Amino acid sequence: MKLWGGRFRKDENRMMEDFNSSFSFDSRLYREDITGSMAHVRMLSACGIIAQEERDAILEGLEGILRDIESGALSLEGEYEDIHTFVELHLIERIGEVGKKLHTGRSRNDQIALDMRLYAREKAAELKELLLGLIAALKRTGEANPFIMPGYTHLQRAQAVTFRYYMDAYVSMLSRDVRRVENASDILNESPLGCAALAGTTHGIDRNMTAKEMGFRRPVSNFLDGVSDRDYLIELTSAMSMIMMHLSRLCEELILWSSQEFRFVEIDDAYSTGSSIMPQKKNPDACELVRGKSGRVFGHLQGLLTTMKGIPLAYNKDMQEDKQAFFDAVDTVFACLSIMTGVISTLRVRGDVMRDSVKSGFLNATEVADYLVSKGVAFRDAHGIVGRIVIACEDKKCAIEDLSLDELRQFSSAFDDTIYAYIDYENILKKGNKKEML
Ligand code: ARG
Repeated sequence: MKLWGGRFRKDENRMMEDFNSSFSFDSRLYREDITGSMAHVRMLSACGIIAQEERDAILEGLEGILRDIESGALSLEGEYEDIHTFVELHLIERIGEVGKKLHTGRSRNDQIALDMRLYAREKAAELKELLLGLIAALKRTGEANPFIMPGYTHLQRAQAVTFRYYMDAYVSMLSRDVRRVENASDILNESPLGCAALAGTTHGIDRNMTAKEMGFRRPVSNFLDGVSDRDYLIELTSAMSMIMMHLSRLCEELILWSSQEFRFVEIDDAYSTGSSIMPQKKNPDACELVRGKSGRVFGHLQGLLTTMKGIPLAYNKDMQEDKQAFFDAVDTVFACLSIMTGVISTLRVRGDVMRDSVKSGFLNATEVADYLVSKGVAFRDAHGIVGRIVIACEDKKCAIEDLSLDELRQFSSAFDDTIYAYIDYENILKKGNKKEML
C-alpha cells in the first residue's frame, strides 16, 4: 500500500515500514490534505492539465472520502505510510484509474508543507480565541474583586496594589501573546503548493489560483524554501512557549496564594483534587499541572529547533518529526488555556485577608518618604529617615501610622498631622499615577 516502489527490487523491511510511517499521527491532517487536493485538482483542470470530467470524478471521490471519514464510515487506520497515501489509494479504489491523475504536478513534499500550514493557520486562530477567553476571565475576576492587596518584589511585601491591577498584569502578558500568534499566522500565510518536490514542475500550473482558493495571501517565493520551511511551526511553538511561561507564572501565584501561608484565594473544588491519605487536603493540581506542562512545551520548541538546525535544502525526512512535537504543543496549550479560564472564572478571592496583609510589612514606607519629599526633604534623606522609623516600629511591633506625631517628629520636624491621611492605604492609591491601579 505505497505510492512508490517501481524502482525497488526488494520489499521494505517490516520494521523500517513502521519506523517510516507517519500515518498514526498525520491522520489528523485528513481535512487539510483533502481540501488541498481539491484546490489542486480544480487548478489542474482550469489550466487544461486534466479534463473537466476527470476533475469532477476526482472531486466527487475526495468529497466522499471526507464525508465518510467525518461520519465514521471510513476509519483512519490501516498499514498506510501517511495520510497522503491513505487518501490517494482510497480515491483510486473508489473512482478507479482517473484517481491516479490527482498527484500530477505535485509532490508529497509540497503537499505536507501545505497541510501543515493550513493546520497551523487554523490552530493559530483557535489559539487566539482561547487567549481572548482567558483574558476576558482575568478582566472579569479582577473587576469583581477590586481589593487592595500587597504587591511584592523578591516575594517580600513591597507596596499596596489592587487585585484587579494584578490580574491586569496577566492581561497585558497574554495580549502580547495574542499579537505574537497573529504575527506568526500572518507570516505563514503563503501557499507552498506548486513547489512540487523542490524544483517546481514542467506542467503549466497556476500557484496563484490554489493560493487564492485556500485563502493564502500569495504563493511562497522560492520552491526550495517552500517545501522545507518549518519556521512557522517554530514561531508558533515559541509563541506557545511564551504563553506557557505566562500561565506558569500565574499558576505559581495561585499555588502560593491558595496556601495556608497566604490564604488570598481559594481555587474552586471543580479545579482541585484531594489526598488519598490526608482527609483535609485540597490541592491546586490544575495549576501545578499547567506549571509542569510548560516544561513539555518548551521541550517541543527546543526539539523543533534542533531538528531543523542541521538539514540542508530542500525536503528531508527529518522534518516528519515536526508533527508530534507541534501537535502535542497545540493540544497541551489548548488544554492549559481552557483549564486556566475555568480556574480564574471560579476563583474565590479573599479581600479581607488581602486587606489585613497590607497592614503589616510597612507597605506605605515609600509613601512616608514621598510625604517628606512633599515637605521639602530631599528623597535620599527621606529614605534614610523612614528606614530609621521602620527599625523603631519593628522594635515597638507597630506600623508607621501607629506612631504618634510626637514620635514621628523625633525623626523629622517635617512631619505634621497631615501625614496620617497621606499614608492611609486607601488614599495612597488615589495619588499620582497610582490611580491607574484602581
Ligand atoms: N510524511 C512526510 C512528512 O511528514 C511527508 C511526506 C514526504 N515524504 C517523502 N518521502 N518525501 O514530512
